[in-house]
Amino acid sequence: MDEIEPLRIMPGTGIEVLDQTALPFEERRVVLATVEEVCEAIRALRVRGAPLLGLTGACGMAIAAQERGTDDGTLELAANELISTRPTATDLGAVVLRALTTARSAAGSDARRDALWDFALDYARARQDEDRSMGELGAPLLPVGGAVLTHCNTGALATGGIGSALGVIRTAWQQGRLAHCYATETRPLLQGARLTMWELDRLRMPATLLPDTAAASLIASGRVGAVITGADRIAANGDTANKVGTYALAAVAARHDIPFFIAAPTSTFDPSCPDGATIPIEFRPEAEVGGFGEQRWSPAGAAAYNPAFDVTPAALITAIISEQAVLRPPYGASVSRLVSKR
Ligand code: MRU
Repeated sequence: MDEIEPLRIMPGTGIEVLDQTALPFEERRVVLATVEEVCEAIRALRVRGAPLLGLTGACGMAIAAQERGTDDGTLELAANELISTRPTATDLGAVVLRALTTARSAAGSDARRDALWDFALDYARARQDEDRSMGELGAPLLPVGGAVLTHCNTGALATGGIGSALGVIRTAWQQGRLAHCYATETRPLLQGARLTMWELDRLRMPATLLPDTAAASLIASGRVGAVITGADRIAANGDTANKVGTYALAAVAARHDIPFFIAAPTSTFDPSCPDGATIPIEFRPEAEVGGFGEQRWSPAGAAAYNPAFDVTPAALITAIISEQAVLRPPYGASVSRLVSKR
């Protein structure tokens, strides 16, 4: 099976991304060669998922140097444009700022451009290695011969490697440990139904799709041995922002005494947020709830509450799987040990 390549770097030119809004029906690849095109692709969720947003941001900085120039002011402006596209994922802002620092330490235009493309290529390689380590560390936590439930899309499409939570699921299944994956549809943009089910189908892993609203009764039925999701930002105390609906899954998992795991690379931890209340949450347009694409199903102008993410309190999280270690409560101490190493 060919690995999914959600983003291809073309140093000196731009990037080619798999347009995730067209999946699963069309594998459409689009070339992005300007900062404006990169920002549009991020806002429209053509590229998405916290680690892939980090990689896209790194590439966006190389594209800025290519397209606009390499002086400090130009690069800072581009960094701000890229960072402001989506506020919740730590990776986007943090990686763009690291790219900016890398560029500043190079002297001369050519050196700055080369440094930015090299930074993006290195970052892409790191994604692959980190996902594989998360898979190896996390797989032993999943139920032998059992089933897990996951939310949103955390696979190759979301990271550029084998995935975070879906990478752990894939590894456990390939090791012959895990038998089945349940995937929530993930309203309103259906990342589970469109993207996770597409990835699981390519992997030939037995999988079942369910409406988000059926997750509680599925867990109550005893058919799920663990819930595992990714993360967009993890605060210093372990509170975790991820796709809206994650909090409800963690609460129901606790109610029925099954483990709730988060899988996320170290780049997703943000020690500058002391707790979940300080994590910025992105709100998406009301129209995404009142319809899908061109199709409307609510009256024009219907008000909608549409946060893209919610925060799961650390107390509901059994363990956080990173590429370096499996973190256990109390997270204040384990998160601080982990981030001090980066
Ligand atoms: O709005 P999205 O599709 O970017 O949301 C993605 C998620 O919530 C993922 O669970 C998270 O980014 C982790 S991806 C490995």
